[in-house]
Amino acid sequence: MIEMVFASQNKKKTEEMQALLAPEYKILNLADIGCMADIPETGISFAENAALKTAYIKTHYKLDGFADDSGLEVEVLNGEPGIYSARYAGARGDVLNMEFLLNKMAGIANRRANFTCAISLQFRGEAYLFEGKVFGNLLTAPRGKAGFGYDPIFVPEGYAQTFAEMDATEKNKISHRALAVAKLRDFLKAQV
Ligand code: IMP
Repeated sequence: MIEMVFASQNKKKTEEMQALLAPEYKILNLADIGCMADIPETGISFAENAALKTAYIKTHYKLDGFADDSGLEVEVLNGEPGIYSARYAGARGDVLNMEFLLNKMAGIANRRANFTCAISLQFRGEAYLFEGKVFGNLLTAPRGKAGFGYDPIFVPEGYAQTFAEMDATEKNKISHRALAVAKLRDFLKAQV
């Protein structure tokens, strides 16, 4: 079994990754390797922020691993909230962030947006990047209770429901994260 670090504090996400990459890979998260640092996310793109996390693990722990960074990009706002998705309204809070965005979008007809997920991988001396995107449109008011973040106001292209109205299995078939993780998994499984 090949050990890999997933540079995240999120236990649920780590379990998901472990399920996807088993049995060839054993996934450790930051707590498992004793890393309590708040790894600086000072990049200007999802890809850069993800790469900073894997580089940190390589430098400080000499371990291979991967990291993700994701968010929402709105076309008429030139890609905002982008890397600031989690704190768009100033503090962490899904409802506040959505309200802040909906206010900015008031009266704007072009509601095109996409979620992006970048996964960086540090593996056997090389750095790799895998990206997933899902395009759609923003509503003018939230709908649905599932999911998190901007899910209640995002309707993916070709669907009538928001991400928050879909069940997790359905969202996980088409989401930006699912697409990026599928690319990572295909790559890693081919290396064994
Ligand atoms: P993270 O990089 O996965 O922690 O995501 C950063 C932020 O982007 C989250 O706090 C959400 O605001 C937003 N975001 C990322 N992925 C999703 C998603 O699948 N649905 C809704 N919001 C998301």
